[in-house]
Amino acid sequence: MADRVVSPKPTEDEGKFELSLRPKRIDEYIGQDKVKENLKILIQAAKTRGEAIDHVLLYGPPGLGKTTLANIIANEMQVAIKTTSGPAIERPDDLAAILTNLRAGDVLFIDEVHRLGRPVEEVLYSAMEDFSLDIIIGKGPSARSIRLKMPRFTLIGATTRFAMLSAPLRDRFGAVYRLDFYDLRAMETIVHRSAAILGVAIDATGISEIARRARGTPRVANRLLKRVRDYAQVRADGAITAPVANAALAMLEVDALGLDEVDRKVLRAIVEKYGGGPVGLETIAASISEEADTIMDVYEPYLIQLGFIDRTTRGRVATKRAYAHLGIAYPESPQEKLL
Ligand code: ADE
Repeated sequence: MADRVVSPKPTEDEGKFELSLRPKRIDEYIGQDKVKENLKILIQAAKTRGEAIDHVLLYGPPGLGKTTLANIIANEMQVAIKTTSGPAIERPDDLAAILTNLRAGDVLFIDEVHRLGRPVEEVLYSAMEDFSLDIIIGKGPSARSIRLKMPRFTLIGATTRFAMLSAPLRDRFGAVYRLDFYDLRAMETIVHRSAAILGVAIDATGISEIARRARGTPRVANRLLKRVRDYAQVRADGAITAPVANAALAMLEVDALGLDEVDRKVLRAIVEKYGGGPVGLETIAASISEEADTIMDVYEPYLIQLGFIDRTTRGRVATKRAYAHLGIAYPESPQEKLL
């Protein structure tokens, strides 16, 4: 997982690298046009009124820019941002400590907000709604509850799993935006921009080659660009052209659509072991020794986007396109599937 070059999850040392490539202003942010337009209005209106913006929920597959957008929002509002994540806030006290340190207008960014524990979530409700904190002081019979007022802040929540958010939490976000995979044009613009920032020589064919294989995900594009840059430096004259990008990506086992070995394993498991499906996610996961959650969050969204997998009530089904991509003949009759 950690070694996957097309993984949309950030690697440990990628933080810094990504940071320099991350746009800081909303006008530098490429793609996601609808979300961007909505956010611009939200920001402008709040600024004009001199208020904090409404709580914002960003959801969608990993690597599409949820954290980047949260930072852009804080930057555009000229307020501080405190970043944390659902699993990092273990107890209500942890949340109270964070909340009481915020100043008026500040942004609190909670990544993986679907992984907050119930007791923590409950403290968050009144904080989001009334900007007050109900804290219990002491233990046993002498315990009492006090209500603390806190400054108006903006919560930005991010999640890859919209459906796993509880309804009360979901309802407390004033603005909910879904990020989608980027189209090819946007991906090309992102590769072009990143190459310019990194000072890499790349031509239009090189840009297009990397953009096409980056599975609609800027984080993947930036990672591929970095790896292809290394290859170009060592095996070519440093400039990235289509043949250089092709050779580098072939070495990384990233195919023409950006699928890697694990994606192909998922598809092959459905096709070869389970007759093309329907087969349950857990079964697929067990058969290739991956976590079901990882398949659902990381691999499946792009395979569905490509039209390679259908999610049905009875399980996952491999489509005709998936067979074609694997170079396996599509069984036209159910009997044939079972052979
Ligand atoms: N880098 C990562 N995501 C980006 C985006 N959406 N626009 C510009 N640069 C990016």
